[in-house]
Amino acid sequence: MSSTPLKVAVTGAAGQIGYSLLFRLASGALLGDRPIELRLLEITPALKALEGVVMELDDCAFPNLAGVEIGDDAEKIFDGVNLALLVGARPRGPGMERGDLLSANGAIFTAQGKALNKVAADDVRIGVTGNPANTNALIAMTNAPDIPQERFSALTRLDHNRAISQLAAKTGAAVTDIKKMTIWGNHSATQYPDVFHAEIAGKNAAEVVDDQAWIADTFIPTVAKRGAAIIEARGSSSAASAASATIDAARDWLLGSATGDWVSMAVVSDGSYGVPEGLISSFPVTTKGGDWEIVQGLEIDDFSRAKIDASTAELADERAAVTELGLI
Ligand code: NAD
Ligand code: LMR
Repeated sequence: MSSTPLKVAVTGAAGQIGYSLLFRLASGALLGDRPIELRLLEITPALKALEGVVMELDDCAFPNLAGVEIGDDAEKIFDGVNLALLVGARPRGPGMERGDLLSANGAIFTAQGKALNKVAADDVRIGVTGNPANTNALIAMTNAPDIPQERFSALTRLDHNRAISQLAAKTGAAVTDIKKMTIWGNHSATQYPDVFHAEIAGKNAAEVVDDQAWIADTFIPTVAKRGAAIIEARGSSSAASAASATIDAARDWLLGSATGDWVSMAVVSDGSYGVPEGLISSFPVTTKGGDWEIVQGLEIDDFSRAKIDASTAELADERAAVTELGLI
């Protein structure tokens, strides 16, 4: 592996997710022994808090942390970055739906898309965690016309991991026995966690569970509404698990999935599975060397079709709303 440091930008670095993400990035969870240079973007009032976080990073004496730069100017922070993790956005509070966030957060992603377009490295990959993640990724992508569209993705890996965990708890299987999990659509309550193509120790997961009512009435809503359940319980949105999933997604994207399994990523649709072209929607993908490919040829029954269509219709509505707002 290269010993040149990978330049990784993190936005919203002084926030809750940042407080977990930065330390895991610096300790090698993304790249093992390859050095990493952190470029941390915040809004001006949060820079002082960010300085405190950097003091803590220093105090860890991480051997592979090759440097840290902080600032409030996207063009300076994104200069030459190979990976940009766009986390900074206003999180959802109790009672809020993601749609409420579109206008509040959309403007952030137009500016950051433009800055990435101007100054990021030629090989940049951009992962969007900040909500509404799919549409924020669409906004950034549209505002960065010189960066290939397949370099943008939005995070549905947390939903993917949640689905694996729920299925493991139900069946008593180890999480490592569960493969081919898929999240389709939006990172929202309309998302569709699909067990019909998943496998548990090589057997079809829906057949192992053998309980359609549990799948429809417990599993799917538990996974889809997990973010809200955590907000309700913690009083603020998921942070450590979101950071962990952000790293899982970036690692598998850059290095390929360690298990050879497919993963869920929200990526630009080419029309596969009837998902309208150009939407950033979650699909099952295989990853290799910084590229992804949508898994083809899966049979979609009527139950799954209706769920995928409902979630992609919501994405199309979000696209119409941000078009109306002049963000794309
Ligand atoms: P937080 O409020 O603790 O931190 C957000 C940080 O972003 C703040 O420090 C804020 O100052 C910063 N910020 C705001 N505007 C910015 C800008 N223009 N540039 C740079 N930084 C900016 O929130 P959090 O808990 O860390 O969550 C961050 C985002 O991640 C939220 O949108 C949240 O909803 C989302 N999230 C997504 C997932 C997912 O699975 N996709 C999971 C959990 C949370
Ligand atoms: C999550 O899934 O935990 C986050 O996206 C928080 C939210 O707003 O649901």
